Amino acid sequence: TIGLAVAAKAAGKLYFGSATDNPELTDLPYVAGLSNASDFLQLTPGNSMKWDATEPTQGTFTFDGGEQIVQLAQKNGQLIRGHNCVWYNQLPNWVTSTSWDNATLLEVVANHCGTIVGHWAGQIWDIINEPFNDDGTWRQDVFYNVTGEAFVAAALQAARDADPDAKLYINDYNLEYGGAKAQSMANLVSSLKAQGVPVDGVGLQGHLLVGGVPGNLQSILESFTALGVEVAITELDIRMTLPVTDALLEQQKADYQSVISACKNVSGCIGVTVWDYTDKYSWVPSTFSGQGAACPWDENLIKKPAYDGIVSGFTA
Ligand code: G3I
Repeated sequence: TIGLAVAAKAAGKLYFGSATDNPELTDLPYVAGLSNASDFLQLTPGNSMKWDATEPTQGTFTFDGGEQIVQLAQKNGQLIRGHNCVWYNQLPNWVTSTSWDNATLLEVVANHCGTIVGHWAGQIWDIINEPFNDDGTWRQDVFYNVTGEAFVAAALQAARDADPDAKLYINDYNLEYGGAKAQSMANLVSSLKAQGVPVDGVGLQGHLLVGGVPGNLQSILESFTALGVEVAITELDIRMTLPVTDALLEQQKADYQSVISACKNVSGCIGVTVWDYTDKYSWVPSTFSGQGAACPWDENLIKKPAYDGIVSGFTA
């Protein structure tokens, strides 16, 4: 069969990609698979560009971890999705424990985003990650609590000023089902555009469940591209309740195919990234007790039926 990225390219997409993380890069068979550009033309650093990793103390930036993944991608001829500038999680203490005033926190946000986007220039970036609760209300994190919605524009504008070529995304999970959360994201994008704030794309993370992939995903993607932004599936994995059975693997294959074909059918959907390619390094089992096997390769780096589902999604 042809590779995942070869199939994505044949369907007119920019890339198929995978998340990875620095500790995994000592696993040579894993790195060999990750470096196979017929499967992966894009990498996302799973942790090493986050705020705690890049600005652990105010004004002191550390790029080493992110740099390691950027260099691997360059060696392999792969794109990078920068992940991420502003997120409520994995923040250093100095961000969460200071009592900020509005203007100072907006400066801190702008300085953080401008610095990392400027350092790793020419890339696609998740500038804002997970701003909404599942009911569509704003997440009550330090950024929203101090600045209201203003942190979003501050981050996006600083990123654009630092690198006019960067593609700027807002990324979230559970947008795939439509409903209140997707509506809030659409409203935010419309309002930013109306104010002239730069925003280029919406990332739908795609942390999904076997047997639970929404049948109208294509129309959800189109509801965002209709606003004048592109979309990407940024963190795809499709988990199951363990143990693994042949029937579940077949359903998972169909589910992967269905997500991929939704992206294929929307010209503004630029690519799909899996949140690591192997079950060996999936975040799922440690977060959802009794669930796992969410990735297209198993924990022994053997391709699962899902692999062929992805190829079929791009080619069928
Ligand atoms: O860095 C510490 C290390 O010093 C310590 O010894 C070790 C002990 O537990 O923990 C390390 O931190 C871990 C970190 O990953 C780096 O490995 C955290 O415990 C662990 O919670 C953290 O998990 C990451 C998670 O984001 C945090 O929320 C996952 O690897 C990462 O895959 C996951 O990625 C997120 C996306 O950024 C956003 N969307 C959801 C997705 C899955 O949760």
